Amino acid sequence: SLPVENVQALASKKLKDIPHRYIRPDLEFDKVSMDESLQIPVIDMSKLVRNQSGHGDELGELHRACENWGFFQLINHGVPAEVIENMKMEIKEFFKLPLEEKMSCAQLPNDIQGYGQAFVVSEEQKLDWGDMLFLLSKPASIRNMRFWPTTPLLLEVQRVAICLLLLMGRNLGIDPEKLRCIFEDGTQAIRMNYYPPCVEANKVIGLNTHSDSTGLTLLIQANEVQGLQIKKNGKWVPITPIPGAFIVNIGDIIEIMSNGKYKSIEHRAAVNPEKERLSIAAFHGPNLKSIIAPLEDLVKEETPNYKS
Ligand code: SIN
Ligand code: FE2
Repeated sequence: SLPVENVQALASKKLKDIPHRYIRPDLEFDKVSMDESLQIPVIDMSKLVRNQSGHGDELGELHRACENWGFFQLINHGVPAEVIENMKMEIKEFFKLPLEEKMSCAQLPNDIQGYGQAFVVSEEQKLDWGDMLFLLSKPASIRNMRFWPTTPLLLEVQRVAICLLLLMGRNLGIDPEKLRCIFEDGTQAIRMNYYPPCVEANKVIGLNTHSDSTGLTLLIQANEVQGLQIKKNGKWVPITPIPGAFIVNIGDIIEIMSNGKYKSIEHRAAVNPEKERLSIAAFHGPNLKSIIAPLEDLVKEETPNYKS
């Protein structure tokens, strides 16, 4: 990855003219939905648990959220608020450190882990208006202890992710043992995002359009500034985060494993003109010995492999 300027340092110069590599003519800000009532579904983890013993239809709600949106907000997830708040504080403090100190965690050549910018492969490539700290946390053998945070949050979040994956599998009619084999000792990576404010917020993007290549992503909004937008019927829908909730989305691996039933939806992060924005994304994938393919239970004559 080619080194590029630190965006937080660049933003602090308060330039009137933003360098051209950040200016994007193709951001479709005219396609941002103004309909505030259009929001992703809310799923209640405590109701999912109750549904497993036969009460209500929260599993049905989960299934529809995965099929129709690929995104939902998860409330009552059981991760203590204090654990989340401490992690938010830690990452706010990290990004507040002087640049030289943050650079002690800088990405090294040929390693995606560490502090820096998104993958840059050419001198002409457009750039995102944001910095990140990226860590591989599971399996423990691939951790770089130089960066390892002390928080129990990552473990808690992985527990929630695996629980959701097993429930999704149940909704899809997949043998839970098979899924457990794939996701037990699964991989986890964490990306902490810092998006500085930008006077030309409507000409830059914090994190450009992508779908997540992972299995399941859990996103924590780390301050009160929103920016996440998801693509729905050709429009960009801004997400209003519920305080304390996780924003959950289906990644490419679940789209593939579900034979296309659950969709990995394109999304991006917009920048605020006045305020910095912070978020924490935790990505959960299969363990390193698993092979990713549509699960046999889902490939039948009437629904052949969805990409063939
Ligand atoms: C992401 O897509 O990983 C981050 C989105 C966000 O910062 O809201
Ligand atoms: Fe993402």
